[in-house]
Amino acid sequence: MIRVAPSILSADFAALGAAIDRVAPEADWLHVDVMDGHFVPNLTIGPPVVKAIRRHTDLYLDCHLMMTNPGDYLEAFRAAGADSCSVHVEVGDTAGLIGTMRDLGLGVGLAVNPETPFDATRPWLDRIDLLLVMTVHPGFGGQSFMGEVVPKIATAAQAISEQGLDVVLEVDGGIDPATAPAVAGAGARMLVAGSAIFGASDPLEAAAAIRRAAAGALP
Ligand code: DX5
Ligand code: ZN
Repeated sequence: MIRVAPSILSADFAALGAAIDRVAPEADWLHVDVMDGHFVPNLTIGPPVVKAIRRHTDLYLDCHLMMTNPGDYLEAFRAAGADSCSVHVEVGDTAGLIGTMRDLGLGVGLAVNPETPFDATRPWLDRIDLLLVMTVHPGFGGQSFMGEVVPKIATAAQAISEQGLDVVLEVDGGIDPATAPAVAGAGARMLVAGSAIFGASDPLEAAAAIRRAAAGALP
């Protein structure tokens, strides 16, 4: 089964509630991109915005923390209503961060940049709920999909299945109906898309088109 997580990064922040409502029927999760201006060269959303979104929707809030010090904010995101948080493996202290997320009752996600090998995440696979494989360099919406990451998605899917783990394999960056078949074919089952959905004249149909394109690549 293919699931779609619209990334609100490309939505109109001045009309965020309406943008969320428009895609909600095709949204399995809502992807919330948190950027700290340090781990990535951009600043976006913090706990107050997550809190406002939480009051507006019951959708599962999948918070992608592109932060150097996510541990300082996990409790605040949980209190604001985040359902899961994904921290980047590149920031280190992965064991500590996983433990904190678990203790807080968050879905436990680990994100991995395009140039970081799958082996950096392998030791943590049996302790996480979600592996977020970046298919662009994090920091901005609307970038081109990096096809060279597809083999890593396949390696991750194989490791998850060989170990019989219940880990959601999520991909993020440059996903649209043209790129969705490659990631779904490699084993991704949760597809994040920002500009392809919120940049479309009909965001709901755009999300449905991504789901259809991905489903068409499944055996
Ligand atoms: C990029 C973010 C993505 C972004 C994807 O750093 O993590 O979630 O919103 O945007 P698109 O789908 O436009 O590549
Ligand atoms: Zn993201």
